[in-house]
Amino acid sequence: MKSRIEALLQEIATLEIPTPDALEQFRIQYLGKKGILAALFVDFKEVPGPEKKETGLLLNQLKQAAEQKIESLREVLEAQQAQQVEIPDLSRPAGGHEAGSRHPVSLVMNQMIGIFQRLGFNLSDGPEIVDDWHNFGALNFDEDHPARDMQDTFFLSNPEGWLLRTHTSSVQVQEMMKGQLPLRAIMPGRVYRNETISARAHCQFHQIEGLYIAEDASFADLKQTLYSFVREMFGPDSKVRFRPSYFPFTEISAEMDVSCFICGGEGCAVCKQTGWVEILGCGMVDPQVLINCGIDPEKYQGYAFGIGVERMAMLKYGIRDLRLFFENDARFLKQFHLGLGL
Ligand code: PHE
Repeated sequence: MKSRIEALLQEIATLEIPTPDALEQFRIQYLGKKGILAALFVDFKEVPGPEKKETGLLLNQLKQAAEQKIESLREVLEAQQAQQVEIPDLSRPAGGHEAGSRHPVSLVMNQMIGIFQRLGFNLSDGPEIVDDWHNFGALNFDEDHPARDMQDTFFLSNPEGWLLRTHTSSVQVQEMMKGQLPLRAIMPGRVYRNETISARAHCQFHQIEGLYIAEDASFADLKQTLYSFVREMFGPDSKVRFRPSYFPFTEISAEMDVSCFICGGEGCAVCKQTGWVEILGCGMVDPQVLINCGIDPEKYQGYAFGIGVERMAMLKYGIRDLRLFFENDARFLKQFHLGLGL
């Protein structure tokens, strides 16, 4: 019996067990109810008296060796498994990178900028935080004009009375006050209004305003410029119409509609069955605004226009909810690619 036990001890010492399943089998084989050790303990009863002590010690040694083997192998195998989870397969081929796409507002804005640049307009930029003079005062807004009201304007709480610009006309003032004439520029940028957010209104949006000041600027020039813009933007068959309007900084003032490019003027949901879609405000710069900015209205005239970029993008792509532009939902944003003719 002693030699059998010694042989088993030898076997345990050199045994290699590669998986948790094999380890469980080993445990049952040695320590299970019908296992090797149980059988040896039965045989042990038959061992003659003088050999009992030595055989008993060996037998216990075998039991301990089996238990220790199981314990240490379990730790090793568990550690191996944990490592397999942590170490990724470095030989795997790399996953594809999703190409980003431009925001629809950027796409439309860039297209609009491109058209006006081809018509000879320069790009002007200005700060989004401005003083009352640049946003309102120079532009003939009366002290009690409703647009100055807290309802519409985000005022900053500093003593100088700064505010978030409500239109990029603030850049028009900045450019006119530089006094470098003639002046032909567009001012793209973000503007802010304290509006309740809905499908049609947001507290932030983008505008492109345009300004032309020269000795011979006329309303006919304004019409032709905007007509050229619309034909490039919405197609050569587009028609425009002007309706009288009011802005504190232009005289005369107009709003311009474009013939509905969805239904071709026959009437649909986008044009609310009228065949026309309103896209911008415009007019001849009020002489008082020129005076406010240090320009002689006897010598110079100017025209100006302002276009909402989100509105153009909504019309162009058939988007019904303005909020989508600012939510950064990748499912929405992924749909717009440079390939859309932009
Ligand atoms: N500044 C005007 C607005 O934000 C738009 C506009 C610009 C109208 C220039 C006429 C001329 O509503």
